[in-house]
Amino acid sequence: MTHVTNELEKQILGSVSAASDEAALEAVRVGALGKKGQVSELLKSLGAMSPDERKVSGPLFNTLRDRVTDAIARRKTELQSAALDARLASERIDVTLPARIEPQGTIHPVSQVLDEVTAIFADLGFAVAEGPDIELDDYNFTKLNIPTDHPARQMHDTFYVAKQADGSRHVLRTHTSPVQVRTMLKTKPPIRIVAPGRTYRVDSDATHSPMFHQYEGLAVDEGITLGHLKWVLEEFYKAFFEVPKIELRARPSYFPFTEPSVEWDLRCDRSVPGKIVFGTGNDWLELAGSGTVHPRVLAMCGIDPEKYTGFAFGGGLDRLAMLKYGIPDIRPFFESDLRWLKHYGFPALDVPTLDGGLSR
Ligand code: DAH
Repeated sequence: MTHVTNELEKQILGSVSAASDEAALEAVRVGALGKKGQVSELLKSLGAMSPDERKVSGPLFNTLRDRVTDAIARRKTELQSAALDARLASERIDVTLPARIEPQGTIHPVSQVLDEVTAIFADLGFAVAEGPDIELDDYNFTKLNIPTDHPARQMHDTFYVAKQADGSRHVLRTHTSPVQVRTMLKTKPPIRIVAPGRTYRVDSDATHSPMFHQYEGLAVDEGITLGHLKWVLEEFYKAFFEVPKIELRARPSYFPFTEPSVEWDLRCDRSVPGKIVFGTGNDWLELAGSGTVHPRVLAMCGIDPEKYTGFAFGGGLDRLAMLKYGIPDIRPFFESDLRWLKHYGFPALDVPTLDGGLSR
C-alpha cells in the first residue's frame, strides 16, 4: 500500500509543480481531490475495507490527501505571486525619468522682455494698462498737448487711417503715451501704470522698424516729484539689466506732454567690441524720455492740476531687448526667420519672475 501511495504522491506532486498557471493547477486539483479524483477514490475505497486494513491505509491516504492539498496551496501562492510580479513588471513606469519636453517654438525676445518689464513694474506697484493700436488722433496727439498744427506732429512720421463717417480721425499710434490719456480719463488718482505695446512710425533702417514696441509709465498722485521718477527708473534698470548698481544721467529735453522733460542715459562700458557692461565705463546709452506730466495734459484728461502732479516715462522695448541680449539689428525681430528665433528665443516654460530670476 505504501508503495502505491508513494507512487501516486510523486506523480501528483510532479504535475503540481509542472502546472504553469492557475488553470493548469486547478485541473491537477480536480484530477486528485475532485469528486472522482485519484486521491478521493482511494479515500472512498476505505469504506469497503476491513477494520484492520483501514487502520493501515486510513492514515496513509489521509496523509497523502494532506500533502497534495498543501502542495497545491503552495503552488497556487507561487503562481499568484509570479503573475503579480509579471503584471507589475509590465505596468512599471519609471517616475524618476525626466519629463520629455521637446518644445517646438521659443518665446520671442520682445515677449520675453515685455514679461520682464511688467514683472519688475508689478513689483514696484504698477498695474499693466493697455490701449488699441489704432488710436484716436485726439488721444495720440491732442490730449497729449500736441494740437493739430503743432510741429511735434512732424516728428512722428504717422500712419494715418481714413477719416470716419462721424469726422473722427484715427492713426496707428506713434507711441504708447495715449495709454496715459486713456488711463487718466477713466481712473482717478492715485494712478500707477505701465503700458507696454506696439507702436508704428513711417521709418525703417537697422535700428528702426515701422512697427516696434514701447513701454510707458505713469504715476499721478498728490506730491509726486521727479525724485520719485528717478528712484523708480533706477530700480527698474537695475532689476532689468540684472546688475547690483547702475548710474543714470539726466539730460534736459522737450516733450509736449511733460514739463520739465528729462531724458535718461545709462552709464556703460562699450570698450570691448560687441559687448556692453552696465554700471561702469565711460559710455552713455540713451534709454528713456520722461518728465513731469504737463498740467494741461492733466486738465484735458479730467484731473485737477492744482491738486495732483505726476511723472511719465517711455522708451523702446525692442531697444531694451537688443541691449540686454546683444541683438545688433532690429529688422530680423519681425521677419519670422526660424533660425533667428531659435537663436535669440527663450525656452517656452521659462517665465521671468523677480524671485526666480528674470532671464534663465
Ligand atoms: N512718447 C515719447 C516717444 O515716443 C516717449 C516719452 C517721452 C514718453 C516722455 C513719456 C514721456 O511718457 O514722459 O518718443
